[in-house]
Amino acid sequence: MDLDKAYSVKTPEDSRRLYAEWASTYNETFIKANDYVYPRTIAQKFDELISKSEIQTVVDIGCGTGAVGSYLANLRPNLKITGFDISPEMLAEASKLKRIDGSPVYNDLIEVDLTAELPKKSFDAMISAGTFTHGHLGPQTLTSLIQLVRVNGWFAIGINAQHFELRGFDAVLRETQDLGVISAARFFEEQVYGPSSPHYGDTTQIAIFSRLK
Ligand SMILES: C[S@@+](CC[C@H](N)C(=O)[O-])C[C@H]1O[C@@H](n2cnc3c(N)ncnc32)[C@H](O)[C@@H]1O
Repeated sequence: MDLDKAYSVKTPEDSRRLYAEWASTYNETFIKANDYVYPRTIAQKFDELISKSEIQTVVDIGCGTGAVGSYLANLRPNLKITGFDISPEMLAEASKLKRIDGSPVYNDLIEVDLTAELPKKSFDAMISAGTFTHGHLGPQTLTSLIQLVRVNGWFAIGINAQHFELRGFDAVLRETQDLGVISAARFFEEQVYGPSSPHYGDTTQIAIFSRLK
């Protein structure tokens, strides 16, 4: 499976089909083969910048096979992690992951199309890597997801840097900030892949912000 194929999806149905086919080999053919460092980087940013004491629960948006959750569970062993994803096959892979103490990395895994009706749930924080990218989720979905985090909760949202420019994430985040819903976002531009990857140089904008109302 190559990156072009992943970027060419257009609808949630395309994603469901693509990831059904890819789930069992995703960790080998994508994460390992491309030295995909993004899940570790975003988990570290979350841990570094978002207060430990206030955050007991987090939702991982487009959790896939669970790479983000694995790093986060190592950094914050007491954090309760829920994964949302459209692909039951990717969720099945995530469900196999265990913490150091033998308990599951994900306390809950929920199959949901995030462009449609959202589950009635509330979390202290949200994290996401690899899901706000070409053909996947856009800025309107990001604003609709804000309701899943309680007031004064936190977000660490990775957005493919080209997708960020092309889809106008900056303007949408600013509008949401102007409405008083979120704080000003801090952006960190980070590598998605390590130096050994053919895709080295592709970057993500990691947006860190909080919900104000
Ligand atoms: C590139 S993978 C990233 C997975 C994981 N976060 C990682 O970094 O390895 C993108 C994920 O987004 C999910 N996805 C795509 N469209 C979605 C939608 N409309 N609703 C929920 N999940 C979606 C896919 O099923 C897939 O698991």
